[in-house]
Amino acid sequence: MATQDYPGIFICLEGGDGTGKTTQAERLANRLREEGRHVVLCRDPGGTALGEEIRAILLHRREIAVCATAEMLLYMAARAQLTEEVIRPALADGGIVVSDRFLTSNLAYQGYAGGLDVEKLRQVGLLAVGGLLPNISIVLDMPAREAVARIERGLDRLESRGIEYLERVRDGFLQEACRFADRFTVVRADRTPDEVHEAVMRIVRPLLPSPRTPSQGG
Ligand code: TMP
Repeated sequence: MATQDYPGIFICLEGGDGTGKTTQAERLANRLREEGRHVVLCRDPGGTALGEEIRAILLHRREIAVCATAEMLLYMAARAQLTEEVIRPALADGGIVVSDRFLTSNLAYQGYAGGLDVEKLRQVGLLAVGGLLPNISIVLDMPAREAVARIERGLDRLESRGIEYLERVRDGFLQEACRFADRFTVVRADRTPDEVHEAVMRIVRPLLPSPRTPSQGG
């Protein structure tokens, strides 16, 4: 089933490393929960036992050789499991799924930046997720150099690929957002977390059903 066939809503936060996606995904999920909504927060890669194992291999096991095609397919495999095990059931249950990254990250990192054919990746990606795409992907955008400078912990395998790579990642997100403007929005991320959060809420709010109040029962 496609996203619009489910009662739930699928929101994705996308963007380069250091743009504040994880913070914003958590803030969005918390804000919606405070309003009494059923929210499932997940991250890609991750969110399932298989996905977290794949994540650990891809990001932290530098001693394991992973060629570009294998890397792309491992991200796809993690996302296939996340979609089937977590996202579809949550959407079927009428929940709001907030995902920290999804398929567009694969296109931006392994395609636009990594040099794999973007259209082939899109085909593999659609197969992996059974055609399920977010209702809206919010791309947090800022120059890669400034974004990476905000990362306080050590850089992981991806982040250490250099500024040029991360600038191509940024450009990839912007190209996708431009091409599929009906399901993407770009938000400037070089602002305070409060300002970015309010910008995200302005995008998300119109997509939400009115919150259920106790007097409405059910
Ligand atoms: P993060 O979600 O904590 O930012 O870390 C995930 C890293 O994995 C990040 O550097 C982007 C990268 N990534 C890909 O290269 N391809 C993908 O398909 C996904 C989902 C993430």
